This record gives sequence, structure tokens and C-alpha cells, in this order.
Amino acid sequence: MGNETTEIRKKRIFSGIQPSGELTLGSYLGAIKNWREMLEEYDCLYCIVDMHAITVRQDPALLRRRALTQLAQYIACGLDPEKCILFIQSHVHQHAELAWVLGCYTQFGELGRMTQFKQKSQQHADNITAGLFTYPVLMAADILLYQADAVPVGADQKQHVELCRDIAERFNGVYGDVFTLPEPFIPKMGARVMSLGDPSSKMSKSDPDGCVFLLDKPEDIRRKFRRAVTDCDTENCVRFDPENKPGVSNLLTVYCAAAGKTLAEAEAEFAGQGYGAFKPAVADAVIAMTDPIRAETERLLRDKAYLQQVYAQGAEKAAALARRTLRKVYKKVGFIEG
Ligand code: TRP
Repeated sequence: MGNETTEIRKKRIFSGIQPSGELTLGSYLGAIKNWREMLEEYDCLYCIVDMHAITVRQDPALLRRRALTQLAQYIACGLDPEKCILFIQSHVHQHAELAWVLGCYTQFGELGRMTQFKQKSQQHADNITAGLFTYPVLMAADILLYQADAVPVGADQKQHVELCRDIAERFNGVYGDVFTLPEPFIPKMGARVMSLGDPSSKMSKSDPDGCVFLLDKPEDIRRKFRRAVTDCDTENCVRFDPENKPGVSNLLTVYCAAAGKTLAEAEAEFAGQGYGAFKPAVADAVIAMTDPIRAETERLLRDKAYLQQVYAQGAEKAAALARRTLRKVYKKVGFIEG
């Protein structure tokens, strides 16, 4: 992969998830499953962005464990390390170096307008660090280092990808064509999974009851779905209607994604049955999907040597690409070649 000299170079994709918590059903259905579907058509880099995770305080031992678990989960979810570059951000020092340069081409005001910064600085009001503020610059470096054409992200990250484009355009405007301008790629297929406890908010690892983790055991998954909020209508009918029946509609989305069915098929299947029959069926479909992933993750986590080999090789391949971009950037801004 990465053969730049062939004329039909595949489009390149970069994406990453922070190892700041366990991967959820939402991360799988909303991101990783789509990443897997892009493996053949694109040249893909999938990263574990541990440097982003320390923008809020992390427990060091836990961060290390989560990063390794996340790598095992990427592989268990079908991100074959032979077909893409899987790596850990802190292993490729060019991310930090490019971030410094790009920070000098980013306005204070632009960063202050980032919605996520405003939200996170409210949540962590006692620890609003410069890192939290400059986080989108590091994200821009992640993307631009690899000359990514497209960046699959959730809607919440679209603003950061747009800022990345603005920074790249500005830099290119001064120095010529250095960076590929990336497009945010919000997959049409990606299921947006909402909290099982509050279907008006996104499924989030900070709300463990409303959240199914990819490594949850079947009994936990069953319990979480049994308690899932359905709607307080008297209809007791499984029908997709996000406005009036957000709870049931969320469960339908999950069911269809997990069982590989269309909404119409699912509605027909449960016609005449109430929520009582539907909820355990959703749990079963999810378990059928996640349990092989859990088993494979556990197997991989027992094979540390293999995981080390994967991340070492991933970092090597990523660094080879990153080096090229950074060298060009250093030259353009006027650093003496060392
Ligand atoms: N900021 C992203 C998030 O919190 C994670 C991320 C970091 C990322 N660098 C990236 C996503 C580069 C896509 C491309 O979800």
C-alpha cells in the first residue's frame, strides 16, 4: 500500500478514536464498522489517538491498558493490519512536530470558536489547559501528515475537519501545494446510536447504564436492553418514528444494524408484538454481533507479542509517510535541513 508512484492511487482515509474509555456499541456501529467497509476501496490509516486523550486528565496505567485493548478491538472488528495501517499516535513523533508548526498558522479566535472546546471547558472548568484549546491543531496534524483525502468522522467532529481544511488552505496559500485538502466524510450508512436510558442524547461511555460496551458480557447486554427506555405511548407497537417514539426508534436502528435488516423488514417481523418481545430480540441480535468480537479481543490480548508487532509495524509504515510531509513543511517554513 501507499505506492505514490502508481497513477491510480487509492484515496486515502485517516481516522482515529481516543483511548479515553471503552469502545461502545455506538463506536462500532457509527465508526469502526464503516472503517472496515472502506478497507478495499481506500488506503486507510486508523489511529489510536492517545495524545488527544491527555487533553483531560487520565490515569496512566488505565490509558496504557485502554490503548492496547483498543488496538486488539480494532483487529477483532475486522481492521486487518495487513490491509490498513493501525498505529498509536504517540509512536509517530511527527504528529507533535507538525502540530507545533500548524499552531503557528492557526488563529486564537478560530480555536475559541470550536464548539467542543466550549463544551469541554465547561465540563472540566477546573482544568482548562492549553492542550484542550489546541487539540484541533493536533487533529489537523494527524490528518495533514498523511495527505488524507477524506476523514470519516461523526457530525460532532465536522467542525474540526473544516478547521483542518482552513489551516491547510492557508498554508498552501503561502507555500504552494503542500497539503491535500481533506473532506469530512460523514458516512450515510453509519447508525447514530442513542443512549438506552435517554434516547435524546448520544450513547456515551460516560453514561454506563445507557451504554453498551463492545466488551460487555451477554448477561449485561440483556440487562441493559431490558431496562432500555421505550416510549410512554399506549400503542406498544414497534414502529420507526424518531420524533414520537425516540426510544423504540433507537432500538430499531440498533436492531437493523446488528441483524443486517431494513427498517421495513424489522417492523414487519415485530408487527403485532409489543416491546416485551422486541427488547430481548434486540439484545440477542447485538450479542450475536458483539460476542465473537469480544472473544477475539480477549484472545488477542493474551498474545501481547502479536499486538506489539502490529503497533510497531503500523508506526513504521505511518512514520514513513509522515516523515515525507514533515520534511517538506520544515523546508517550506525555512528550517535548515538537519
Ligand atoms: N477528535 C476525534 C474525536 O474525539 C478523534 C481524532 C483525533 C480524529 N484525531 C483525528 C478523528 C483525526 C479523525 C481524524 O472523536
